[in-house]
Amino acid sequence: MARPRLRPDLQGYFGPYGGRYVPETLMAPLEELARAYDRWSRKRAFKRELRELLTHYAGRPTPLYHAKRLTEHLGGAQIYLKREDLLHTGAHKLNNAIGQALLARTMGKSRVIAETGAGQHGVASATAAALLGLECVVYMGVLDTVRQRLNVDRMELLGATVTPVDTGTRTLKDAINESLRDWVTNVRDTHYILGSVLGPDPYPRMVRDFHRVIGEEARRQLKKQAGTVSPDVAIACVGGGSNALGLFTAFIDDRKVDLIGVEAGGIGDDLGEHAARFGDGGSLGVLHGTRTLVLQDDEGQIAATHSVSAGLDYPAVGPEHVLLADEGRIEFTRANDVEAIGAFDLLARTEGILPALESAHALVHAARIAPQMSRRQIVLVNLSGRGDKDVESVQRWKAERESETAEPRTEAARTGVAVHPAARQWVTEGGE
Ligand SMILES: Cc1ncc(COP(=O)(O)O)c(C=O)c1O
Repeated sequence: MARPRLRPDLQGYFGPYGGRYVPETLMAPLEELARAYDRWSRKRAFKRELRELLTHYAGRPTPLYHAKRLTEHLGGAQIYLKREDLLHTGAHKLNNAIGQALLARTMGKSRVIAETGAGQHGVASATAAALLGLECVVYMGVLDTVRQRLNVDRMELLGATVTPVDTGTRTLKDAINESLRDWVTNVRDTHYILGSVLGPDPYPRMVRDFHRVIGEEARRQLKKQAGTVSPDVAIACVGGGSNALGLFTAFIDDRKVDLIGVEAGGIGDDLGEHAARFGDGGSLGVLHGTRTLVLQDDEGQIAATHSVSAGLDYPAVGPEHVLLADEGRIEFTRANDVEAIGAFDLLARTEGILPALESAHALVHAARIAPQMSRRQIVLVNLSGRGDKDVESVQRWKAERESETAEPRTEAARTGVAVHPAARQWVTEGGE
């Protein structure tokens, strides 16, 4: 079997998934990009410049933090958090944005475009563009511009133009459509900084490789801090899947480590109520140039998705995840909106850290399994981003619940959602 680091194959396929399903006009730019990436990413000078920027500008290595109070609260396995929330701009997205912006400059492009959902990739791209003197345009669904207003302001302050997208579901999917349209038209001077392990080859492998540093650092840090390179379980949330592959790739050959991806369970199991591509909802299809699991109806129409977290609100998943799931190497589960808000509160109040709502989905699963594990075991959670951007969303969510029901904060119990009692306490009692 091919080792994961040799994936995808030369045609950009991860087994039957991936590839390049794009109109003729995009084939030449993708080939140019793949050639440039293959050439420059191997050069010592490119690697050195990237490493220096990640170290002295972005703040790598990010800490690995032993969350002792959370561990104590849950009463089981030791919980370690990989603190991508402490990376400059507040999320893992900057690893990839700096890498691609550097590549764009090397290719002689003067303009970059990006799509964004939660706004973190948009902020990261605007930041990298300012840093390297590139013009930047960010496409963002109108719905996301409302729920992530702070990040819209940040992008504009960084000198980027934010273009709201008012088509379709007005979220990430539609922002990617617009970005692809812009790229086709302006390919001569423009590079498209795609923000996850999605899209046509070379994006899934390129974005993964710019994020691999997350897991590589975590192994070294665990060795120093816990005496082992191998946690028992590593957990990450999965939107497109970039922070998850950033963490997991370093552990894929280490079979002692269980890898768990957490998708957005939203508000229910019906199509349109969640963004969980694994399980019943997803089926094989093509979206944004890649063959992968997609949420779609019987006619192949892309389904609407729902998640309280904008960054997980996307109907497809990176093709490498699907292959790794087929092989049984990554297991997927889901956390719903209520649980994610519960985990957000739990981390805030036990550790003084506001997690991004995306990352809170990963914390939900840690809170489910840690109490059933021994104190000698280790759960590693990728804290992919910080929650400042979500403060308004969380406040609004709570206010809406309070006005909807006479028994606020008991929704977890009422819906029978499997919140671990420890996490549920924070949901039901507001952490008092
Ligand atoms: C903080 C954070 N975590 C996770 C994600 C999900 O993306 P991915 O699955 O590519 O890591 C996002 C997307 O915007 C994000 O902002």
